[in-house]
Amino acid sequence: MSQNEKETRISNIVSQLSLCAEHNVLIYDKCAREYDDLAEVFGFDVPRRIADCCMKNLSLPKGTTVKSCTALDVAAGTGITAEALKKAGFTGAIDGFDGSSEMVKVAATKQIHRTIVQHLALPNHPLPFAGKTYDVVVIGSAMNPGHVPHECLHDFLDLLKPGGILLFNVSHLTTTDPDGQASGSVRRILQDMSKEGKGECILDEVNSLNLGLCCFIRLVVCWWSCYFIRI
Ligand SMILES: C[S@@+](CC[C@H](N)C(=O)[O-])C[C@H]1O[C@@H](n2cnc3c(N)ncnc32)[C@H](O)[C@@H]1O
Repeated sequence: MSQNEKETRISNIVSQLSLCAEHNVLIYDKCAREYDDLAEVFGFDVPRRIADCCMKNLSLPKGTTVKSCTALDVAAGTGITAEALKKAGFTGAIDGFDGSSEMVKVAATKQIHRTIVQHLALPNHPLPFAGKTYDVVVIGSAMNPGHVPHECLHDFLDLLKPGGILLFNVSHLTTTDPDGQASGSVRRILQDMSKEGKGECILDEVNSLNLGLCCFIRLVVCWWSCYFIRI
């Protein structure tokens, strides 16, 4: 497929996404086998940013090494964020889940995750992971409208060990978010977390990513915020 054909294909996929996660994972099912190839087109560097931020901020209990740490890759897709974590030096075990069974199948062939399962994250839909288990939870490019609901952040925090970190990015500008500010509800949730003493947002970094693909920028995102929370 030529560069132009790939851009058209991405535009076509993006145009099928809606505000409904159940619907969207079926779209991801259909493009799972071509996802990595297409992702390369827009030089998407969120996974690398998340991985670098993780390695800079990982706190290791005395006498332990990164190898003994565990991470959970939320909405893991084909495993691009987990791959970036490994590349950045995360040598611990990484578990993952994704709502699309086909994305999970592709990720499983890469054998980056210790375990990877199909699970759709929704409010009041218990996660198949034990609480206080992980040193790191990463959510790469999946906290968008019609993807992982922001309310689920509470559930992900519960999975962290004390001192663990949660890293995610959200889009600032979307055409699908009713108020055009996807980060608004995240900010409210983070403020509540802080008030309740559940976690503290110690890095809130706004990035402009040069995605280099107008259709993608127009339809989905032009600014990202990266959040880093320590509990
Ligand atoms: C843009 S992809 C990002 C994948 C991967 N994290 C990465 O960095 O490449 C979004 C992923 O979120 C998954 N997804 C969307 N909504 C979800 C939900 N509510 N629960 C679990 N996975 C979800 C999709 O199936 C898709 O694989």
